[in-house]
Amino acid sequence: MKGPCYSAPDKTFIRNTFDSISQRYDLLNQILSFGMSEAWRERSADMVLGEADFFPKTILDLGCGTGKFLECFMKRRAWKQAVGLDFSSEMLKKARETVAGNAVWLEQDFDRMPFLESSFDLVISAFTLRSAGNLDIFLKEVHRVLADGGRVAFLDLTRPGKGVAALFFYPYLRRILPALGWIISGDRKAYRFLADSVCYFQTSDHTVKAMETAGFRNFQLKRFAFGAATLIIAAK
Ligand SMILES: C[S@@+](CC[C@H](N)C(=O)[O-])C[C@H]1O[C@@H](n2cnc3c(N)ncnc32)[C@H](O)[C@@H]1O
Repeated sequence: MKGPCYSAPDKTFIRNTFDSISQRYDLLNQILSFGMSEAWRERSADMVLGEADFFPKTILDLGCGTGKFLECFMKRRAWKQAVGLDFSSEMLKKARETVAGNAVWLEQDFDRMPFLESSFDLVISAFTLRSAGNLDIFLKEVHRVLADGGRVAFLDLTRPGKGVAALFFYPYLRRILPALGWIISGDRKAYRFLADSVCYFQTSDHTVKAMETAGFRNFQLKRFAFGAATLIIAAK
């Protein structure tokens, strides 16, 4: 499943959806990922910040939601500037209420970032690529705001390869996850979108190719839970 026919739903749907599920979003993430989503974020932060020759001072989290990914990076070191950007006011409200530290939480569309070229040493984003209306433009924008030598880290849900994991994965993704998401969040369309986007979004190999075209290099990939999630790190 490559996903050239995948296209993200329109922005109004996405923003309304996250506004409506914001109160239950973190709980549902943990339940639906069998408690693994938090560990994936933590291990991603360890990997990115563990690189010996990389000492970022400024960080931007795109589609930061309730701020859980940025929080992992903030508690590991002091930052000169930390920015979480999202267009859902309700998700950001939770971030402001729950994440300690001095991050700036910015309500903004990531297709219209108000930053100059080379503004950040590190750009991160978790579980957000599937929401980008035009991934090529999104990647070019990320490249633009990243400083030379800076790193980008995308963590997202992906599909396991063939085998036992895949055998369980698809029935879970297509039937159990949307039903559970619907029951707990009360929003049926939100978790249908989650399941469909994971099923049809391009593979991480295709994402790496698109990132190469946007100008990124030195790729590292880390697959979690047999490929149910993948972290892509690259440099500018
Ligand atoms: C699945 S959530 C991920 C939240 C967070 N990164 C995490 O680790 O849980 C995707 C987030 O991306 C945001 N988002 C989607 N499209 C966006 C856009 N065009 N501009 C800004 N934020 C966007 C949504 O509002 C939502 O909060």
